[in-house]
Parts: sequence; structure tokens; C-alpha cells
Amino acid sequence: MLKTKIAPSILSADFSVMGETIKKLEQCGADMIHCDVMDGSFVEPITFGAQMLKNIRPLTKLPLDAHLMIEHPKTQIKFFADAGADIITVHYKACNKISDSYLKETLELIKSYGVKCGAVVNPDVPVENIFPVFPLLDMVLLMSVYPGYGGQKFIPEVMEKIKKARDYAEAIGRSELDIEIDGGVTLGNAAEIRRAGANVLVAGSTVFNSADMADTISKLKTVK
Ligand code: DX5
Ligand code: ZN
Repeated sequence: MLKTKIAPSILSADFSVMGETIKKLEQCGADMIHCDVMDGSFVEPITFGAQMLKNIRPLTKLPLDAHLMIEHPKTQIKFFADAGADIITVHYKACNKISDSYLKETLELIKSYGVKCGAVVNPDVPVENIFPVFPLLDMVLLMSVYPGYGGQKFIPEVMEKIKKARDYAEAIGRSELDIEIDGGVTLGNAAEIRRAGANVLVAGSTVFNSADMADTISKLKTVK
């Protein structure tokens, strides 16, 4: 079984003290920093862009996981790569509405900068839709809520998709592929998510609303 990695989402952080929060997350045992980039069009809210990653980059050794919830993601890749993102994930839906080849082209563009790439599917998109690009991917991101807001409830039907994604990754000889789950991850459902085959758990409200972040991250990481 792959090691469990916890990716706290800074969407739930206080943006006025982001630098301190990043350092604290590293001290508390986070494995990566999940950066929710929203453009007010693909999803309703606007959060931040590449400048945020550029500013937090010197503050931590942890990988920066840029989750781009934006239209036309190709136009932003160079900025996030320059800002120091370690992995950039783009939404199937944002790409597919432009053209059939846009997702593949965007993933190739990300890789051309030496950055890891991921494809994201919303809860209502079959994971099979991204099977054709699996060989290119460093990470599959399965949304377990509709993107836009933290603090939503995990959609249980996504559990089956995790299994399908893990089975397919294994079938094509990519058993090391990271499968990340985003939305509504709690101490109550982390074990089941893990057993289904996801190894990277995004946690926004579960980490930031807890009294002891280190303890919560450690518990999320060791669920069985
Ligand atoms: C939702 C974001 C998530 C969100 C998760 O659109 O992509 O990363 O911050 O928050 P929780 O863990 O609170 O569901
Ligand atoms: Zn996210």
C-alpha cells in the first residue's frame, strides 16, 4: 500500500497570516500544501493566483499542489510553474469544453516545465473519461464535493470511483500513481477512502477547525 499523504487545503486558512500558517503546517506534519485556485468563473469564488504560490514558496520545503479550478488552464501554466508549483492539476470539465485534445495538451505543457501533472474529475464525471490520459499523469484528483467551497459533505458515491481509478492504474502498470481525494475528508471517513485506494487526502476544514492540527494530521495519516 502506498504511503498516506495529507494535503491541507489553505482555502480554509486565514489569508492575512498565510506565511505563518504555511510554516505551522510543515511543523504539524503535512505532506504537501494544497492550493485551491479559483477564478470566479469555473467556480463562483475567486481565491488567489500564482503570486500566492510565489510568496509561500520560500517558506516551506513541502511540495505545493496547485489545484486549478479555472477556465482556460493552459494560459496559466507558465505562471504556476515559475512560481514553484510542484504539481499542477487541471479540471477535465474546463479542458473538455474547449476541445477534445485540450486536456492532453495542457498536461504535456505542465510536464514540459518539469512539473508534475494531474487531472481532476468532478463528482458527476465518470473517471473513465480520463483513462486515456492516465499514462501521462502523476496524480488523479477525484473531487468528492462539487468544487468551490470548503466544509461540504463527502459524496459517498465517489468511493466506487476511487476503486475504479486504483484498479485501472494497477491494470496499466501504474500502481504507484497518486490518487488524491478532495472534499469532505474527515477522521470518520479517511479509513474507508484509504482502503478504496486513495493515498493523498486533502483536508481543509478537518485540519483548520481542529484544536490540535498536528494531532489531526497524524491521525489522518495513520488511519487503518
Ligand atoms: C473545494 C476545494 C477543496 C476544499 C476542501 O472546491 O477544492 O480543496 O478546500 O475543503 P474541505 O476539506 O473542508 O472539504
Ligand atoms: Zn482542492
